[in-house]
Amino acid sequence: MSVGKTLGIFFLVAIVAIQLIPVDMSNPKSDPSLEVKAPAEVKAILERSCYDCHSNKTHWPWYSHIAPIKWFIARDVKVGRQWLNFSEWEKYDDKRKKKLKEMIFTAVGLAMPLGMYVKAHPYAKLTPKDRDLIRSWTGVNPEEIMNNPKRHLY
Ligand code: HEC
Repeated sequence: MSVGKTLGIFFLVAIVAIQLIPVDMSNPKSDPSLEVKAPAEVKAILERSCYDCHSNKTHWPWYSHIAPIKWFIARDVKVGRQWLNFSEWEKYDDKRKKKLKEMIFTAVGLAMPLGMYVKAHPYAKLTPKDRDLIRSWTGVNPEEIMNNPKRHLY
């Protein structure tokens, strides 16, 4: 058999084999009363642009079932939920909520949603109006963040 053919078969087997590696892509059940409460227009933006990674209501597209892409997607969802989970918002105490709102205030400036995600989901991109609506929902005073020496840096 030629080297090319051997390599070809090798890659085919490898691609099939990596599909078998288990990856957690579940949407855990959570009590609806724990869900974040926000005015309908703000909630709609969060659902549209953030929920795929920051809630238990992730929409898993077909390509999210194919390795190796699914490893990266599952990692973003896992880490995203660890940071901030809008489906379990009421589990956070007041101090944590305040901190998270400060982070959200900053994150919507540029960092979030993640760039790769926006490329695949152009509708998720925040308009300046979306950003302002989210920011006013957080109730954060930007001067307070700027003057806080312990502020979260990006
Ligand atoms: C494609 C998945 C994805 C989407 C969509 C997404 N995030 Fe994130 N988010 C992450 C990940 C992953 C992290 C963890 C930090 C990192 O890896 O950059 C994170 C971290 C955060 C953090 C905490 C840490 C930080 O960097 O500020 C906040 C706040 C945040 N996201 C807010 C949002 C908001 C608000 C939206 C919607 C406008 C959003 N994210 C959309 C994946 C996502």
